[in-house]
Amino acid sequence: MKERKNVYKLPAGDKTLEWYAKAVIAMKQKPTTDPRSWNFQAAIHGFNANLPAWQGSAPIPSRLITQQFWNQCQHGSWYFLPWHRMYLAQFESIVAQTIVELGGPPDWALPYWNYSDTSNPQARTMPPAFTSPANAGNGLWRSGRQNTTIPARYVSLSALRVIPFTGNGQNSPLGFGGPETPFSHNGGTHGELEQLPHDVVHGIIGGVMGDPRTAALDPIFWLHHANIDRLWQVWLNQGGRLNPKQNSWLDLKFNFYSKTGKPGTMTSRDVLDTRTILGGYVYQDVPPSAAPVFESAEAAPDFSEPLEIVAASNKKLNLESAATSVTLTIVPPRKEKPRMESASDTPATTILHFENIKGKGQPPVHDVYINPPESGDKEAYYAGSLGFFGVEEASTASTHHSGSGQHLALDISELVAKLRTEGDWKGKKLNVVLEPTRKLEEGEKVTIGRISLYSA
Ligand code: C2O
Repeated sequence: MKERKNVYKLPAGDKTLEWYAKAVIAMKQKPTTDPRSWNFQAAIHGFNANLPAWQGSAPIPSRLITQQFWNQCQHGSWYFLPWHRMYLAQFESIVAQTIVELGGPPDWALPYWNYSDTSNPQARTMPPAFTSPANAGNGLWRSGRQNTTIPARYVSLSALRVIPFTGNGQNSPLGFGGPETPFSHNGGTHGELEQLPHDVVHGIIGGVMGDPRTAALDPIFWLHHANIDRLWQVWLNQGGRLNPKQNSWLDLKFNFYSKTGKPGTMTSRDVLDTRTILGGYVYQDVPPSAAPVFESAEAAPDFSEPLEIVAASNKKLNLESAATSVTLTIVPPRKEKPRMESASDTPATTILHFENIKGKGQPPVHDVYINPPESGDKEAYYAGSLGFFGVEEASTASTHHSGSGQHLALDISELVAKLRTEGDWKGKKLNVVLEPTRKLEEGEKVTIGRISLYSA
């Protein structure tokens, strides 16, 4: 059984990163047609020959191979977590095999980057081995990263509080893991963990990490995803939380290559228990599992109560370099009493949706505020952030996507409840302010088809 360790807790003299760097260089030397090459592994996540990062990758495998094995990453979907778990396990075994072939130890495991570890002041900064020396001789370095430190706001673990795994914020509250979808290379509403920290960390690092079609070319990608995979286990171990039980989630087959270069398939059912995946692994620093709250999945509550749309913007927004402000007029829900106005202690579920988001390039992360004051500190009105990871691909029609754009959503129930207590909530008008974390650069563009508010 392997242990995936916190990269910042590797003991002095530990060789995990040194071997990783050597393996990256060895994998980069293999041709893109080799399933165990660095390029092939990254292309499983996403590939686009027109992007500069893919220049020099030719020759590529036959269409028969690329259609089955490339551009497979699952986003905006309940397959987001299991697919990336399968992907990481296969990749880890290929790296470990490469290390053995290079004369290294037999037990290499992927470390994880826990940027949310508040006990370590360094935690939000990419481990130094990835940034220095800053040259191609360092297997862990990658050119073009915009930031190597993640601001504190974006490492929030608020997603862990979410109870249901599945949900889309319309027919049901938002889910931890994403909405029920078919195979979804770039699909529905992003799940809460996917949105924050996942998407935003991609956007803040930028460079190849800022686009799913190139992200896995950066060696830090894998440590970011090991952390996301760990957080799935942390979420589950809190108790009262369950993975989906539908066969459509459990049994959909995804294509991968093994460490010996053999094609095969994996399913969510195969990766439910990390201890049984390809020899097995556990994470350092995952609190033990709380006693199960429900005797069976059947006994668990149903979170599928539909929400009702109570407000929507009426025109397409073009996010410019300065902050964008939109005011929505709220129509109280028709059913029973209008709970948005009521003074009840339990916050009504309130979800803010950003629909048909289309973009070009890698638009900056935007922070969202609700009813902020015109001047002064907006911090108390912060509702969350939009990462736009994958927006350009989601805006482009292809075999995998209609091109209708991306769908992001923020659960603002707690913020609304707080504003109501403090008298900053009128219940009739909702002012949404979107503020970019940097200026839009040339070639970057982002539009939002509609902002809507759902409530229950
Ligand atoms: Cu499939 Cu972090 O991306």
